[in-house]
Amino acid sequence: MAERKLTLNDPESGKNLDLPVVAGSEGDPTLDISGLHKELGYFTFDPGYGTTASCKSDITFIDGGKGILRYRGYPIEQLAEQSSFLEVAYLLLYGELPSAAEFTGFERDITYHTMVHEKLNTFMQGFHYNAHPMAILSGVVGSMAAFYHDKLDVNDPEQRDLAAKRLIAKMPTIAAAAYRHSQGWPSAYPKNSLGYSERFLHMMFSVPAEPYEVNPVAARVLDLLFILHADHEQNASTSTVRLVGSTGANPYACTAAGIAALWGPAHGGANEAVLNMLNQIGTVRNVPEFIKRAKDKDDPFRLMGFGHRVYKNHDPRATIIRKACHDVLQELGKQDELLDLAMKLEEIALEDEYFVDRKLYPNVDFYSGIIYKALGIPTSMFTAMFAIGRTVGWVSQWLEQSNTPTRIGRPRQVYTGATERDYVAIEKR
Ligand code: SDX
Repeated sequence: MAERKLTLNDPESGKNLDLPVVAGSEGDPTLDISGLHKELGYFTFDPGYGTTASCKSDITFIDGGKGILRYRGYPIEQLAEQSSFLEVAYLLLYGELPSAAEFTGFERDITYHTMVHEKLNTFMQGFHYNAHPMAILSGVVGSMAAFYHDKLDVNDPEQRDLAAKRLIAKMPTIAAAAYRHSQGWPSAYPKNSLGYSERFLHMMFSVPAEPYEVNPVAARVLDLLFILHADHEQNASTSTVRLVGSTGANPYACTAAGIAALWGPAHGGANEAVLNMLNQIGTVRNVPEFIKRAKDKDDPFRLMGFGHRVYKNHDPRATIIRKACHDVLQELGKQDELLDLAMKLEEIALEDEYFVDRKLYPNVDFYSGIIYKALGIPTSMFTAMFAIGRTVGWVSQWLEQSNTPTRIGRPRQVYTGATERDYVAIEKR
């Protein structure tokens, strides 16, 4: 089949330039504009990279119009229903579902990297007791290069793989320690006899004074949430990890940068902002006033957990989480009026033309906080929970980029500042 292309005609120079369509396995046609400046002297302008592909990737596919999300070709709905977070981690990292033997080996590797260097626990004690967990997470993860500098050659595939496993294994340990620090509790060490999500809950809530039994319902729904948050192609935090990685920085520095990007309320910080918003709205009676505020350009209030740069249809993760909310609250014998409020808010918003015209639907962050709350996880920890799941995506995308020769990321700009002018001595100003 003839190569698909778009031909540009430049009236300035009278030159034509063929822009070839980059071959992908599926998704919207994407033009290769890398020759544009050399051939015609133009750059492109795309604030927020809304229509710019930064890389090729085999990992995650999203079709925003159809509300499709697949990890390595497997629909998120099937993975949510039939897989486990560690199995999904293997899939995202290595591209294929593991055999039983491969999974056993991978699970063992992760399990035996869950402890952190004891000096890291000491380092953690230096944070103020009410430090935000994301501040601790980004600080501690960035400092891992000071503790695990023995295997930091990013050009060595084995050392890259070890760093990836260390990050996946230790993120829950560090996140749980951040929570315990805020509670004034002693560190809890990972129990290797437990599974990934159970082990995290045990590190979060066990106390030395008595045995702590992990609720299997809580462990199962947490594993589901980690699966749903694991990767999402080139979102802001993953793009940050790739950009930092393109300089050759070590994986701990890359991941710490990803954590910092995720923290923003427009990104992973939205799950914490949704709970704060629902508490601010308080009752269904107040919903119309807040919907009005969300539509008012002069009001900074946004409907947190709503809208998405890519999904212009339902976020498939939100659909799965909304159902899990009901199931978990029922299984735990809990009620939460905030769930009723969230459902009503969604219903009213989706009847309003402002949201319908702009294709604004609930995203992954709209319902997840309801479940975290039901598990006893404080709002301040919600984004840290997102980071635990997304660490798998960050390291998978970092590995994919590190495994192929990559140029340093260096966007250009449209300069709108002062043109050349001469310096004026202060006494003459
Ligand atoms: C995540 O990229 C990813 O994949 C991210 C993520 C992942 O897994 O990594 O999916 C996770 O970050 C989900 C998004 C969480 N953030 C929020 O829930 C915060 C609230 N949402 C908005 O801030 C916003 O929708 C964004 C940031 C998510 C998307 O912003 P865009 O794509 O830049 O969209 P936009 O701001 O250009 O909005 C288009 C229009 C604007 O109105 P007009 O200028 O056309 O009149 O929609 C309006 C916006 O004002 N709008 C909203 C709104 N979101 C967009 N109006 C009210 N409430 C909102 N939430």
